[in-house]
Amino acid sequence: MLEGCCRQQVRWTHSIRSARGAVYRLCLGGLIVGSTVALALGSARAQTQGQNQPQPQIQSPAQLQAQSSSYTQPQPATLSAVAQNTAITQYDHTFSIFHPERGQRGMVASEQRLASQVGIDILAQGGNAIDAAVGVGFALAVVLPNSAGLGGGGFMLIQTAKGTKPVALDFREVAPASASRDMYLDAQDRVLASKSTQSPYAVGVPGSVAGLARALQDYGTLSLEQVIAPAIHLAENGFIVSAVLAEQLSLQRTHLGRWPGTREIFFKHKDPSNTSCALSECSLDALTTYRAGERLIQKDLASTLRLIGQHGAAGFYQGPVAQKIVAELNLDGQILSLKDLQDYRVVQREPVHGTYRGFDIYSMPAPSSGGVHLIQMLNLLERYPLAQYGAGSAQVVHLIAESARLAYSDRAEHLGDPDFVKIPQTGLTSKKYANELAGKIKLDRATPSVMVKPGQPQGFESDQTTHFSVMDAAGNVVSCTYTLNLNFGSGIVARGTGVLMNNEMDDFSIKPGVPNAFGLIGGDANAIAPGKRPLSSMTPVIVSTQQGPMLATGSPGGARIITTVLQQLINIIDFKMNIAEAIAMPRMHHQWLPDFLRLERGYSPDTIALLQKMGHEVRIMPAMGRVQTVQRRGDLFLGASDPRNPDGAALGIGLSP
Ligand code: DON
Repeated sequence: MLEGCCRQQVRWTHSIRSARGAVYRLCLGGLIVGSTVALALGSARAQTQGQNQPQPQIQSPAQLQAQSSSYTQPQPATLSAVAQNTAITQYDHTFSIFHPERGQRGMVASEQRLASQVGIDILAQGGNAIDAAVGVGFALAVVLPNSAGLGGGGFMLIQTAKGTKPVALDFREVAPASASRDMYLDAQDRVLASKSTQSPYAVGVPGSVAGLARALQDYGTLSLEQVIAPAIHLAENGFIVSAVLAEQLSLQRTHLGRWPGTREIFFKHKDPSNTSCALSECSLDALTTYRAGERLIQKDLASTLRLIGQHGAAGFYQGPVAQKIVAELNLDGQILSLKDLQDYRVVQREPVHGTYRGFDIYSMPAPSSGGVHLIQMLNLLERYPLAQYGAGSAQVVHLIAESARLAYSDRAEHLGDPDFVKIPQTGLTSKKYANELAGKIKLDRATPSVMVKPGQPQGFESDQTTHFSVMDAAGNVVSCTYTLNLNFGSGIVARGTGVLMNNEMDDFSIKPGVPNAFGLIGGDANAIAPGKRPLSSMTPVIVSTQQGPMLATGSPGGARIITTVLQQLINIIDFKMNIAEAIAMPRMHHQWLPDFLRLERGYSPDTIALLQKMGHEVRIMPAMGRVQTVQRRGDLFLGASDPRNPDGAALGIGLSP
């Protein structure tokens, strides 16, 4: 029941009767009169009507930047209670439940502790953040084979100490010259199952090696041989398989077991005394994937890395490695040629830029949709006093969902490879367009997605991925997301190379209206064409203030990446959480179609009931995203690796633990 609302005066209240009969009051404005809001893990809290509370203070970018020792600001609701009892504050001095790592001379956050350590070692040897990031990127290709790899592609934002804003390196995969619009359809126009995900036709021309080499060449200080050496060591001597990786391998055994080259790396004979059949020929029942605690050695991958170290990107795109990739993929026809590999080019692009509550937000432009829609959603959300509603409140979840519904609808219509289609990037990211779209958002009702159509922004102008973030003491920052697409990509290892190939072609719109593996639909803008880059959701971000870059973050998660990164920023900027708490909070996601609100575990039944009352179809589903964040506060570096992947680690340099 809406009691009154006047957005111009920023003051209204709104109460909802929950399924249990409690009255919840929502409020926008100068005075909060009750709230659905509760901080801890999304619990909605019934509050007494008429009870005024102080307006939360949003810290300015300068204030946030200046804080060097205290991570978390008390939430207003609890501030007065604590102030009443100073004896308790001396004992119970912190509000933080999760704590970031700390460092004095730099920070690396990645999804694998071994890779983070590689980055830290490079920084300790005098390398800069770009050297460290490239070292981390190659190391992840060894120790995180389900998500990262030389056979994939990605995006990297680099802010140098001297630069005024980041540059964006696009090393996304491209469709091979043989690709065609209807390549995944049969004669009756029906989609051929799995062809775009589990066949040689799923593979786009990989960009990772070219991207990492280019970043180092243009912005690094060390040689490729130096930064790739730790990855070679990890491949040559092996590393201990974690429980997380062992589980992934076991879950994907059928997917991986299909390909002879892949079996030779990730499978063993169940009975070590009976190895009468070769791994590539045995029945899968006679084989097991590597288990937790076992050492995984990847000799072929070590050789490939060595060639890259010696010859640069040419060691991958030409010569024996390229020949083996082409031979593997072309077993049943001309799919991906030597020329496709030789022709691969990294593109340096202008990052997409927006502002949110005074912070400068830089992210990846098309062919990622991530940056554009992150900024579009932030523009929409900026008009609401999210801090007053509170983290995890039904009102905040609802507003993010409604903003995402509008943004993902635009994604399906307007986004694609900017070298092939015109994208209204300026329009989509403008405050003016957000003002128009905001009129479509109802504060107390979900709008069914069938009623939401892509908008008309002005100004047309010319389940696996990983993210890592690095900062150094000199002021260089890297935010990089790269991927094979789905778990272990296509599952195909080109024999003799150790390289798992991506299945990024599935990110194209393989037929208008037909969803990809992430349920995303698209149309002409993202149709397949030779040499074109499939649309991505990867959203590496660098946040800056006038004092310089203060935060680098990003996440895997397919379609969920954009909303995951958005929530990380809101948790930090609006809710004043430290980066570890911001990462740990339960996440939500909406992507227009299919029309349901996806929640992680951790939202209270009360909050869920409120969302359902607003008209949302709520589904509790597996955890989303694995954010890796680094932050600079004055002379201190903070880092946080998402607890959703226990293998990850943020490691600092210069402070003892
Ligand atoms: O580029 C994209 O948007 C997807 N290929 C990313 C896939 C992904 O994040 C899978 N991860 N968990």
